[in-house]
Amino acid sequence: KIIILDFGSQTTQLIGRRVRELDTFCEILPYNKFPKDDPSVIGVILSGSPYSVHDPEAFKVDLSQFIGKIPVLGICYGAQFISYSNGGKVEQAGTREYGRANLETINLDNPLFNGFEKGSQVWMSHGDTITAIPSDYDIIASTGDVKFAAFVSTKQPVWAVQFHPEVYHTLQGKQLLKNFVVDICGSKQEWSAASFVESAVQEIREQVGNDRVILGLSGGVDSSVCAVLLNKAIGKNLTCIFVDHGMLRKNEFSKVMDAYKGLGLNVIGVDASEKFFKDLEGVSDPEQKRKIIGRDFVEVFNAEAKKITDAKWLAQGTIYPDRIESLSITGMVIKSHHNVGGLPKEMHLQLCEPLRWLFKDEVRRVGHQLKMPERLIKRHPFPGPGLAVRILGDITREKVRILQDADDIYIEKMHGYMMPDGTSLYDHIWQAGTVLLSTIRSVGVMGDERTYEHPVALRAVTSMDAMTADWAHLPYDFMADVSNEIIRKVKGVNRVCYDISSKPPSTIEWE
Ligand code: XMP
Repeated sequence: KIIILDFGSQTTQLIGRRVRELDTFCEILPYNKFPKDDPSVIGVILSGSPYSVHDPEAFKVDLSQFIGKIPVLGICYGAQFISYSNGGKVEQAGTREYGRANLETINLDNPLFNGFEKGSQVWMSHGDTITAIPSDYDIIASTGDVKFAAFVSTKQPVWAVQFHPEVYHTLQGKQLLKNFVVDICGSKQEWSAASFVESAVQEIREQVGNDRVILGLSGGVDSSVCAVLLNKAIGKNLTCIFVDHGMLRKNEFSKVMDAYKGLGLNVIGVDASEKFFKDLEGVSDPEQKRKIIGRDFVEVFNAEAKKITDAKWLAQGTIYPDRIESLSITGMVIKSHHNVGGLPKEMHLQLCEPLRWLFKDEVRRVGHQLKMPERLIKRHPFPGPGLAVRILGDITREKVRILQDADDIYIEKMHGYMMPDGTSLYDHIWQAGTVLLSTIRSVGVMGDERTYEHPVALRAVTSMDAMTADWAHLPYDFMADVSNEIIRKVKGVNRVCYDISSKPPSTIEWE
């Protein structure tokens, strides 16, 4: 595997994705957590960082742990740190170097640049600049402004690039990472859904043995794939619990329960909506709502789990991006997600998270491998707190009903709208949902009557992993159809808007 040491850059996850796209297993670890004595590590990538190497709080790492032992690639701060630690010089640049540049001189004989073209476009984003490299290093690429755009050790397998190969704007970035990961480090590119299922089943069996495992299902892809995988591994020793907090999409609870039963899962369905609505009464602060739902969820789940007296393990469909957001070394909480860390402590359950290394698209590949129904695999992500974070202000059953009806029209029409490639519009979108702007009312006219009701906002985004997202360019005829139908059919809504904000700076959910 490849280890990516994270120095806090926003693009560290992207490096991980790119390596995974090469069917190569990788782990992103905090900069100071390099695993010593792990023979499966075939290479190291050092990420960028928000810090300058001269900052007192800059993250520093002992390079001798891996330099000279396995191939190393430093990116941006990683490159600066390699230079700085080996007698090179890093200084503050007059201005931040940001944006596109071209590798005007490039050593095409270096294996890192195999397949490159002279002038290849790269993306720069750095405040400091390298003004001298260590004496035993050679320059292998320069741009008009950056002399030391890439350099290599003459003695050891160490490469350093000032630009960011992981971002889209570095046009041959994928090629560079392939050169490093496959040609230089020798990855055999063996990751596949089939091999994953095989090794995960093995691992689960070894981990839990004959113990009973409980698992919380949410109706989403991750927990469902996790359940089917565990079912394959341990069969009847798995008990699943699916809590209905009353804020799922329209008819979701019964539809999903049926799907689970069809998959042969042993599922207990719990309707706890009464409790959630009662505890949420009058609460309109977004974080407060999330906290209450998180707390109630744990309570309901625990009460149910406790009935399964011989359970030793709690399985969760936690995937890699969930962990990265909560493992983040800069540690900023934007929204408190409720699916991570809500463990029933007093039950002393051990944690089983077989999908913990996977990205969403990999989870879907595993779902296909397990022959799960398409509709379940392709389901858009849905937040744990459900429609509660899509209703501005306080929550009532009536508001949830209005939103469910509007959302159902939107999503069903999205399933039915065919694209030129023969797949549905739904399949082209990462995530879509409807938001009830229930703190706002506006005037409309229906027949001869004046209305004074709420607007809904439609949201649809494209994304790779929800870390960043663009609003989707939905076809106008589709939007017109959805808007007509919602206003005509959903009592309580008299206006439909489309949310044209990307993440960042906006988030996908409104709360
Ligand atoms: P934001 O709104 O932060 O959402 O851009 C990113 C992704 O996370 C989903 N989301 C959640 N998922 N529990 C979850 O399991 C939560 O509490 C939660 N909040 C947001 C959101 O739907 C999007 O896919």
